[in-house]
Amino acid sequence: MLRRLHPIQPEAFVFSNKNKAWANEQIKKFPKGRQASAIIPLLWRAQEQEGWLSRPAIEYVADFLGMNYIRALEVATFYFMYHLKPVGSIAHVQVCGTTSCMICGSENLMDICKELISVEQNTVSEDGKFSWEEVECLGACSNAPMIQIGKDYYEDLNAESFKNIIETFRSGKIPRPGSQTGRYSSEPLKGLTSLKDYDSDKNQFNASVQLADSFGDTVKKINPNKIKNTAVVKE
Ligand code: FES
Repeated sequence: MLRRLHPIQPEAFVFSNKNKAWANEQIKKFPKGRQASAIIPLLWRAQEQEGWLSRPAIEYVADFLGMNYIRALEVATFYFMYHLKPVGSIAHVQVCGTTSCMICGSENLMDICKELISVEQNTVSEDGKFSWEEVECLGACSNAPMIQIGKDYYEDLNAESFKNIIETFRSGKIPRPGSQTGRYSSEPLKGLTSLKDYDSDKNQFNASVQLADSFGDTVKKINPNKIKNTAVVKE
C-alpha cells in the first residue's frame, strides 16, 4: 500500500520538555554514534504527542538523532504504526485485511467501520473521534480476525464484539485488549494440547493484556489530553 505524507502539514513540531527528556534517556540506551537506532521509539513518541506523524515531526526527530531526513522518512512511511494523516481523537482502528483475517471475517469488520466510522478509510468520523484503515498482516494470524488500536491488539473478533469495542470507546471507556473470546494467547481454541505443566500459576491475562488491564494504559497514549479518567472495562 502506498503511504504518502498528508498534503496539509503543520508549521513546526517540537517535543514537549517532558518528551525531550524522555527522548534523551532513550538515546543513552544505544552505543555512541548509534543514536539513530532510537528512531522508532522517538517517532512513536512524536506521534503520541501530536496525535499523528507530520512531516515537521519526522524532520524534528531526524535532527534530534543527527540523521538525514530521507532515512527518517523511510522508517515513518514503512511502518503502519505511524499515522501519516490526522486520525480520530479517541481511536484509529487498523483492520488487518490479509489472508487469515480475511478468511475469518475482516471484510465484515470493515463494513462495520464504514457504518460506524466513515465510508472511506483514512477519513476522520463526523464527530472527530474515530478513523480507520485496512492494513497488512499484523502478525496475530492465529487470533484472526484482529484489529490494532494504538499499541494494542484486539483479537478473535466477530461483528458483535467489534461493535462493542467501538461503543465502549465512544462511551469514554477503554475496552480490554487481547482475545475477545477469552483465549489466553494463541493456544488452540479448546485449550493447550502440550506444555500443560506451564499452564498453571499464570496471570489472569497474557503479559500485554495484563499490563493494559493493570494500568488502563492503552489508547490514552494516543491523545492523553482528550481521554481522561477512563478505565479498562472489567468483566
Ligand atoms: S493475517 Fe491478520 S494478523 Fe496475520
